[in-house]
Amino acid sequence: MRRAIRFVVALVIGLALVTWVASVLVNRTTRDWFEKDVNLRADLAVSGARHTLTSHWSAAERAYLFDRLTEIAHDERIMAGAACAADLTLLTKTKDYPEGFSCRELGAHVRPATDSPASAWKTWRKTYELPGGDVHITAIPVVDEKTPLGFVVLVHDLSFAARRESTTQRFILLAFALLALGASAVTILSVRLSWRGWNRDLQLFLRGQSRRPEFQPILRDVRDLVDRIVDEKETDREGGPWTPERLKQTLNRFLRGEKVVVVANREPYIHDRARDGGVTVVHPASGLVTALEPVMRACSGTWIAHGGGSADRETADANGRIRVPPGDESYIVRRVWLTKEEEQGYYYGFSNEGLWPLCHIADARPTFRNDDWKHYQAVNERFADAVVAEVDSDDPIVLVQDYHFALAPRMIRERLPRATVIMFWHIPWPNSQRFGICPWRKDLLDGMLGASILGFHTRFDGNNFVESVDRFIEARIDREESAVVQQGRSTFVRPYPISLEWPTRWAKTSPAVDDCRASVFQELGLPADALLGVGVDRLDYTKGVEERFLAVERLLERFPAFRGRFTFVQLAAPSRTAIERYRQLNENVERVAARVNERFGDGRYRPVVLMRAHHEPPTVFRFYRAANVCYVSSLHDGMNLVSKEFVAARDDERGVLVLSQFTGAARELTEALIVNPYDLDEASAALATALQMSAEEQRERMRAMRAFIAEFNVYRWAGRMLVDAARLRRRDRLTGRLSDALAVGGEQVR
Ligand code: F6P
Repeated sequence: MRRAIRFVVALVIGLALVTWVASVLVNRTTRDWFEKDVNLRADLAVSGARHTLTSHWSAAERAYLFDRLTEIAHDERIMAGAACAADLTLLTKTKDYPEGFSCRELGAHVRPATDSPASAWKTWRKTYELPGGDVHITAIPVVDEKTPLGFVVLVHDLSFAARRESTTQRFILLAFALLALGASAVTILSVRLSWRGWNRDLQLFLRGQSRRPEFQPILRDVRDLVDRIVDEKETDREGGPWTPERLKQTLNRFLRGEKVVVVANREPYIHDRARDGGVTVVHPASGLVTALEPVMRACSGTWIAHGGGSADRETADANGRIRVPPGDESYIVRRVWLTKEEEQGYYYGFSNEGLWPLCHIADARPTFRNDDWKHYQAVNERFADAVVAEVDSDDPIVLVQDYHFALAPRMIRERLPRATVIMFWHIPWPNSQRFGICPWRKDLLDGMLGASILGFHTRFDGNNFVESVDRFIEARIDREESAVVQQGRSTFVRPYPISLEWPTRWAKTSPAVDDCRASVFQELGLPADALLGVGVDRLDYTKGVEERFLAVERLLERFPAFRGRFTFVQLAAPSRTAIERYRQLNENVERVAARVNERFGDGRYRPVVLMRAHHEPPTVFRFYRAANVCYVSSLHDGMNLVSKEFVAARDDERGVLVLSQFTGAARELTEALIVNPYDLDEASAALATALQMSAEEQRERMRAMRAFIAEFNVYRWAGRMLVDAARLRRRDRLTGRLSDALAVGGEQVR
């Protein structure tokens, strides 16, 4: 309404301006018309009397001339007249002739010069503004043959013109005022009507009942904008770094503290039977666990995982549940029991002989077996059932992790149509051509598209996924929103680069750097002035461990000064050893290490130390802190959290990271020495540079990388995903789509 009033005020001012301009123009035009009219009348009057005037034009005939002028002045517009002789003396004038218009004065305009020819005499006219009203003077030469006799002066009264002008002005003002009133009334009426209509349509739309499709795009934009502003504002309100507390608050504020359910193959705590008969707790070597475990400690909830430890059953309750972390219980691990056949087909077979090599460019051929696929489907169903058993509402938040569960999002949605399913893919996504070699490519894509949000480490991987969908599935790609739309339901594809808790608890609890160095050096039998390189990985062919040892070999070839002084220690956690390719890898790695040691070592000095065993985080961090350089040489890696762990471990701001360009981390940790691990000259040169780098440069690089991880930590990773999920839920609630979905018995409609 306020807007309408403002509009009307502006309209009135505008119209007043227009009225003023119009009246000025009209005045000028009517004045022109009147002047033309009197000029015409004067010319006619004099030319009509010309003959009479010329034949009596002399001082002797003044009386006669007076009568003729009086006759002419009878014209309604002519007020008075005068006759002036050629020598500019007055012959006669009528009674009302005004003072001040003498023959001499006017003659100066009519007769230019005394000896000028007759043709030079000209009619002269001018309007004078006098107190009693305007007068218009016309002085017309009287010429007999070619001899000018003098001139006639006619005085016209123009006060009638002024009267007419003011009447016209009043009329115009009135007309415009009426016009303004009419326009304002129409405007207010139409604004009220359309506002009421728009309001009604908005309400209908928000209730999901609008039949006006043309409103939908604009309303969607408005809603998005509002969502974004609210999110930004609410997220900013907290400000500062992301911490467990902030993540908890985000969960409370955006999701009303709802319980989070995680589905991941690997469990965060494995209970194993020890040789002495007791039970040990193992922290698995897994980037997924490293990242997600602190998030679960902050959020609580339930982590559903394969119970693979030898003492897992006996430590869990009858439903496979156990509270963790041991001694500081804050969330639940729900273990799913798999048979040997299921584990073989789903985990070793389809996940790690099929999807793993399919998604990594690392010289391993994917193997797809029908039996594996069947187990993969069945196990995904088992986990979807476990989700239903664990949730405490019909619209839970479920975080599905990794390539082991590509089918689970769709299965969960079929069971819980109102769930918000976020799937995070921890490994790279191949280009569509490579992905196309999988016989069940459509099933995999369709399964994943059951998720509300699909997260990848990088936009590049997300784009590859969208490209695969575009190629193999009937779906609309909404590139603006970065979403895949099927039957009106969207799956948003987003990059969420994963990270670490910050500060990292293992770094906080580690001994001082000097102590770590002393103990590691002692363990390895190294002299105090030795230079130490470290690598920490699951023994996986994608990690480039062979290439790493080859780079060490090349370093010692090219830079003899490091022989006898540089040692590279590899902490290698055995992984997927039931798979032939991993067994080969074990042998290859051992063989290369042995060769390098033989070439450059002696009885006392070993350039490569391969420690093939599972190492618990305190040991791993001790090695990180002891090293001069950490070399991460992955041939293809979604993110690689070892690189971030090394940086997190170095609170002394020393040590150099040499990092493969084929990791997601290389896009973030740009202060590392980035190398192509296949290029042994480049990699060995980078190792040499790292080992000779000044303390100052090390500090500068390490400080920048630490600042980056501190800001972009894992709480932020989880927080951004949960905030996005909350936005979707709010949007779904607003549009009433969830209730629609329920109303049709779980069918997804929009
Ligand atoms: O890197 C992919 C990944 O699934 C990670 O998420 C995890 O760190 C690693 O593989 C562990 O593999 P697995 O559970 O087979 O030992």
